[in-house]
Amino acid sequence: MSGHAVAIAHPNVALSKYWGKRPGEGNFPAVPSLSVTLAGLETRTRVTWVDAAGDDRVVLGGRALAASEAVRHVALLDAVRRAADHRLRAHVESHNDFPTASGLASSASGFAALALAAVRAAGLDWDASRVSDLARSASASAARSIFGGFVELGVGDSSARAVAPANQLPLVVLVCVTAEGPKAVGSTEGMRRTLEQSPYAEAWLARAPDIHAEIRAALLARDFERVGECAEGSALAMHASAIAAGVIYWNGATLAVLSAVRALRAGGTPAYASIDAGPHVKVLVRPSDAERARSALEAATGVKRVLDARPGDGARLVEAK
Ligand code: PMV
Repeated sequence: MSGHAVAIAHPNVALSKYWGKRPGEGNFPAVPSLSVTLAGLETRTRVTWVDAAGDDRVVLGGRALAASEAVRHVALLDAVRRAADHRLRAHVESHNDFPTASGLASSASGFAALALAAVRAAGLDWDASRVSDLARSASASAARSIFGGFVELGVGDSSARAVAPANQLPLVVLVCVTAEGPKAVGSTEGMRRTLEQSPYAEAWLARAPDIHAEIRAALLARDFERVGECAEGSALAMHASAIAAGVIYWNGATLAVLSAVRALRAGGTPAYASIDAGPHVKVLVRPSDAERARSALEAATGVKRVLDARPGDGARLVEAK
């Protein structure tokens, strides 16, 4: 048996953040999260199962990963091998059209595309929930990128689920890129240090489910401003807990963008910031305000460029044999 498949997946930005894992095995989040899948940025991944000796080969953006860098990829591929009951080696080739490993959720789109391509290339006819569960085992945020629009991953759930379609809220996400290159502390390590060392870890774990419920309700009520306020609150609470453990993802430009977002609001333009495990800032605005907001954000000191993303589709297969 051999086969190949190519899948495309998009990153997502969590409006209510996942930060912290439940104790034990299996990579389960300690808090619920709700995200929007972003069209406009994409990962394209090809998986070929080959009848050859040796290790899996994982090439990201033209660079072959060392075994120590490919641990999560190989664990995911092992799960597919077990399910398909074969011993083939995988050749994985993946490309992002946005900066990798810098807090632009490349692990979300990367593991979502890898899970879908690996499953289908192995000839397994899994539904989206099962593919989401596989993606979650590698990166919990990747479980959400399997689905399009607004997506939730509950505590104790093994897969994510769609909460509302992409057109639920008229939304543009302006991704302010504030640095090139990989982040200093990966999200798994950042979460671990936060839960072990932050004096505010318990406060974060206690508050996150309430923020999540508020965002969910505001989204279903199509209340853009409430969604934005709560999303910014979630990101700031997450980072406050991390910063108190010495896990600081921000740079000077991150703060400059936060100031620009406040200035936009003071000037009457509803704009809200979200920040993941990196220095970039994702700014939520209405489509009618996107151009004005973009000019203000591009002028913030240290911003390298501003990418435009909108609510979009989940992971999809573009080729399979
Ligand atoms: O799934 P991971 O390990 O890439 O962690 C994601 C963590 C955040 O991006 C900061 C928050 C989130 O919910 O996506």
